[in-house]
Amino acid sequence: MDTTPEARSRELEERIAVDPGAFRILTGDRPTGPLHLGHYFGTLENRVRLQRAGVELFVLVADYQVLTDRDVADRLSEYVEGLVADYLAAGIDPSRATIFRHSSVPALNQLMLPFLSLVSIAELSRNPTVKDEIATSRQSAVSGLMFTYPVHQAADILFCKANLVPVGRDQLPHQEITRTIARRFNERYGPVFPVPDALLSSAPLLLGTDGSKMSKSRGNAVALSATEDETARLIKRAVTDADRRITYEPETRPQVSSLVLLAALCQDRDPHDVAAEIGDGGAAALKKVVTDSVNEFLRPIRARRAEVAADRAYLRGVLAEGDERANAVAERTLEEVREAMAS
Ligand code: TRP
Repeated sequence: MDTTPEARSRELEERIAVDPGAFRILTGDRPTGPLHLGHYFGTLENRVRLQRAGVELFVLVADYQVLTDRDVADRLSEYVEGLVADYLAAGIDPSRATIFRHSSVPALNQLMLPFLSLVSIAELSRNPTVKDEIATSRQSAVSGLMFTYPVHQAADILFCKANLVPVGRDQLPHQEITRTIARRFNERYGPVFPVPDALLSSAPLLLGTDGSKMSKSRGNAVALSATEDETARLIKRAVTDADRRITYEPETRPQVSSLVLLAALCQDRDPHDVAAEIGDGGAAALKKVVTDSVNEFLRPIRARRAEVAADRAYLRGVLAEGDERANAVAERTLEEVREAMAS
């Protein structure tokens, strides 16, 4: 039997198509800046697709996770509201999805305590994603939160008994910790939690305009909220190569290919066709195609975003409503946990 995460994800997609109502998704983002095209094609588009298929969505603004790799949460309320605006612009429907944040749901955070008792220090130390984050962290000392946030993430997922978590590869070690915690809790105290599955997204990786990983903090990504001029300027600076013939060869020409791919995703076409059409036009022609494709693709999303962002009372209302729903769910789960642990 093929037990790779890919095979499992394909199997899950088939089950979702048959019975979407059997699934509850928890997913989220740290409010550390505006979401960009990497988020859109990597996860937002997928969330909206699953929502439209009829899966229930819980979307977490992970404000307590901001402090894992920095000492202070700068411009937090601005980023929180911006994140909600990005979600709504991308098509997440607040009448169906629950959009909420850590700091408003005390019962979720309280689950961290029993959950911490279910994992060993050795298990936490082995997590390759955390190791990598520690290695690239700007902090001189590793905080306890950095080390244990995958356990907090288990609380994010299990408080609402989500059974499906759409993730990128880097989140798989966290997902394993969540599954371990759910299993151990159930074994020790009785069946309370589902053991949630990771759903790997099939989205190909987009590089930042400087050729490195796309990142909110590196200034190398087109934000959904950027203007058309800002978009043009950023793409103009993108790293390419000297070969005038534009091709799609991700292995040997990563930067050029990532730009071709971005245009192709925006046009919903095959990247080889997009490259062939540009032909010998060189980097300038490529960048013009990319800029036009991105701006055209994002136009309706940006219009919707501007509309919701202008109404801060509405944004706050969406979040307040989501917080309230999440609180009710979290309190019920915490009560079950208390009972299971007491008996
Ligand atoms: N770790 C995720 C990120 O950095 C955010 C996140 C927090 C999350 N809790 C989660 C994602 C639970 C999925 C499930 O973007």
